[in-house]
Amino acid sequence: MPVLVFGGPYSNLQATEALLAEAVRRGIAPENIICTGDVVAYAADPQACCDLIRTSDMAVVMGNCEEALAAGAEDCGCGFDADSECAALSSQWYAYTSSRVDRRTCDWMATLPARLDLQIGGTRLAVIHGGNREIARFLFASQDEALRQELDWAGADGVIAGHCGLPFTRMLDGRLWHNPGVIGMPANDGTPRVWCSLLTPTDTGLTIEPIALAYDHAGAAARMRAEGLPEGYATCLETGIWPSEDVLPSSERAAGGTALLPQPVHWESQVELREVA
Ligand SMILES: [Fe+2]
Repeated sequence: MPVLVFGGPYSNLQATEALLAEAVRRGIAPENIICTGDVVAYAADPQACCDLIRTSDMAVVMGNCEEALAAGAEDCGCGFDADSECAALSSQWYAYTSSRVDRRTCDWMATLPARLDLQIGGTRLAVIHGGNREIARFLFASQDEALRQELDWAGADGVIAGHCGLPFTRMLDGRLWHNPGVIGMPANDGTPRVWCSLLTPTDTGLTIEPIALAYDHAGAAARMRAEGLPEGYATCLETGIWPSEDVLPSSERAAGGTALLPQPVHWESQVELREVA
C-alpha cells in the first residue's frame, strides 16, 4: 500500500485539514500516514492541530518542538545563534505555543518515538525528524557528505526525514534520503503551496511522488495576525518566501523564490544486491 509522508504541520490547522482531506481523496488510510514531527511551531492553532493529528491515528515521529515542549524547555531547540533573526522569531512563536498547549498534549508529545522503522517495497527505511543523533540537525539536498554520514548511522536502506522545511530526494550509493517537506509553511519557492509525498512500493523499490497542496493559506495567515504572531511568517504563508534564510546553505539560498517543479522519481533499491553480497 502507498504511504503518505509529510512533516511540519507547525500549528497550521488549515494546512493539516487539507492534508487529511488529500489522504481521504487518495484513499490513504490513517495507518499509512506518517508525520516526521514538529506538529506545532509558527502558526496560530497548536492545540487544535495536535488534537487533529492525535485523533487521526496516523504515526508521528517526535520533532524538536515536541521534545522541547514535553521537557518544558525555554526554546524550540533549534540552536539558533542568539543574535539571529530565527532566534528572535522563534522566541515569539515558541512562547505563544507553549502557553496554548495543554499538559495532556505535552505528555503525548513525550511518548512520541525518535525513530520509526518502515518496511516498504522490500526496503527498510528509518523515519526520523532531523538527524539520527541530533534531532534538530538541518540537512539539505546540497549536503551529500552529511547525508552519507547520516545514512551510515541509520543502518537502513534509506531515510525519511523532516525538520529542514524543504522537500528533496537524494540517492547516494544506492541509498535513499527523502524529505517530503512540510505542510505548515511554504518551501521558500515563491508560492504558497506546501508539500508532502506519496511512497508507492514497486517490484524493485519505491516510487516517490511529491505532492503540492493548495489550502486556505489566507485563512491561516489571518489567524496568525489575529493572534499577534510574527508578521514575517504570516506573510510567508501568502508569498511563499521565508522571513529568514539563516539556516540555508548557499545553493538553497540561490534557489529561493523559484517555484519548485518536482517530478515523481523511482528509487531502485539495492536490497537484492546486498542480500547476494
Ligand atoms: Fe524541527
